[in-house]
Amino acid sequence: MRPAIRPAVAADLDAVSGLDAACFGAEAWSTVSWSSEFARADRVILVADEGDVVGYVVLLVPPVEVDVVELLRIAVRPEERRTGIGRQLMAAALERCAGRTVLLEVAAGNESAIALYGGYGFEQISRRRGYYAGGEDAVIMRWRETA
Ligand SMILES: CC(C)(COP(=O)(O)OP(=O)(O)OC[C@H]1O[C@@H](n2cnc3c(N)ncnc32)[C@H](O)[C@@H]1OP(=O)(O)O)[C@@H](O)C(=O)NCCC(=O)NCCS
Repeated sequence: MRPAIRPAVAADLDAVSGLDAACFGAEAWSTVSWSSEFARADRVILVADEGDVVGYVVLLVPPVEVDVVELLRIAVRPEERRTGIGRQLMAAALERCAGRTVLLEVAAGNESAIALYGGYGFEQISRRRGYYAGGEDAVIMRWRETA
């Protein structure tokens, strides 16, 4: 079944927070952090809904149009990866970014995410050496809508 992509609602908080814990382990955001993400007016949170929440994406969308959007988080339930859900979430997220620039930061070794982003036209624009705990580099990627 192809999931529906829809904006998250307050009732999704536990499901999203639980999925984040399953996807990111020690790097997961706490439930308190997720509560604050859900409450913020400058966040766009979309979920992939198959009856259960199987994926999510979080954008920071500043109200000022010229300010860059940041893609803060995207994840898909491990058992459902490589079935196109990440792509569905990215497409829905970028639809909301018409005319804007989007930046994101990703661990240099996260090949699946880098391939996903590259497929949507994100370009690597810089690198922060040893940025993550453990010493891994961060790659900064940028997307601009092309005409
Ligand atoms: C990154 C992630 C969201 C991709 O979700 P997904 O649903 O598996 O992605 P899709 O099935 O839509 O794949 C889309 C494209 O991404 C790339 N991709 C996804 N998984 C990949 C993998 N394991 N290896 C290489 N490329 C991969 C491919 O280009 C793929 O297209 P293809 O299947 O036609 O080759 C998922 O792997 C994930 O949740 N990872 C853990 C969380 C994470 O690291 N998030 C990013 C940092 S916040």
